[in-house]
Amino acid sequence: MDPLLGQCELELGAGLTSEQVQQAIAGVSALVPLLTVRIDQALLDQANQLKVIANVAVGYDNIDVTAATAHGVWVTNTPGVLTEATADFTWAMILALIRRVIEGHRMMLAGAYHGWEHTMLLGVDLAGKLLGIVGLGQIGRAVARRAAGFGMQVVFYDPSAGEEEVDLGLIHARPVSLNELLGSADIVSLHTPLGPSTHHLIDASSLALMKPEAYLINTSRGPVVDEAALVEHLRRRRIAGAALDVYEQEPRIAPGLDQLDNVLLQPHLGSATRETRLRMARTAAENVLAVLQGRRPPNAVNDLPG
Ligand code: GLV
Repeated sequence: MDPLLGQCELELGAGLTSEQVQQAIAGVSALVPLLTVRIDQALLDQANQLKVIANVAVGYDNIDVTAATAHGVWVTNTPGVLTEATADFTWAMILALIRRVIEGHRMMLAGAYHGWEHTMLLGVDLAGKLLGIVGLGQIGRAVARRAAGFGMQVVFYDPSAGEEEVDLGLIHARPVSLNELLGSADIVSLHTPLGPSTHHLIDASSLALMKPEAYLINTSRGPVVDEAALVEHLRRRRIAGAALDVYEQEPRIAPGLDQLDNVLLQPHLGSATRETRLRMARTAAENVLAVLQGRRPPNAVNDLPG
């Protein structure tokens, strides 16, 4: 194993906590935070030597990038290396939700399976259904590509992706408005970054547009969905179900979410494979090395003068 990767493996799981960042920020040149660590203006004001914040995540909504830029600090992320793992996990959640995999498992453990029944734990088909992708970035595209294998059609909403149909090799994805996507898709899957324009993008009024037989999947960021509104829609069965890997007040979940039988909850496992987490750690380390060696980091999300 190459030395950098070996070192990454040793450090996996040992990300900085907010308290450690507080203590360490004065005097260090590089921070490698996990997505759970919030780096704000107040923290950056204490950073007298800091040159780079190498987030170990593709999303970087935990970092005040404007403040970092004003302090002359690079911010980097880990794009590309977690695309396939996150797309796989999105499909794991879709399949588990619509085919009631967790309920079946619980039934077996409870000794409640007494023989095959024609109408036991019925789910729904994927073939012929419409997948709606909100956010056609790398992960959205990887999720859409996999839909070809299930015989589905794909539409997407992404204001930055233009108005042309997107050829994904095995499948084409057709651009539509958010309202059209919500009103027509059988499965709505969220893959947008969190920012001011996507906070509560899925709120009570957008949920009201969804078909009663439709499912919502969120592997992006919790605050993209108004979780209280979602609980209400699920409780009233205004939509068929939801699978969530991320939460508005992560790691807490909205009151009532744990009382529902039409929801699948996961503890933010989208990119959680050994290979992917090693690649993420390695990417963060490479970004730090670049800055410390006086080079522009390969995965900068901000731009610094000079
Ligand atoms: C995970 O959620 C990431 O942004 O990498």
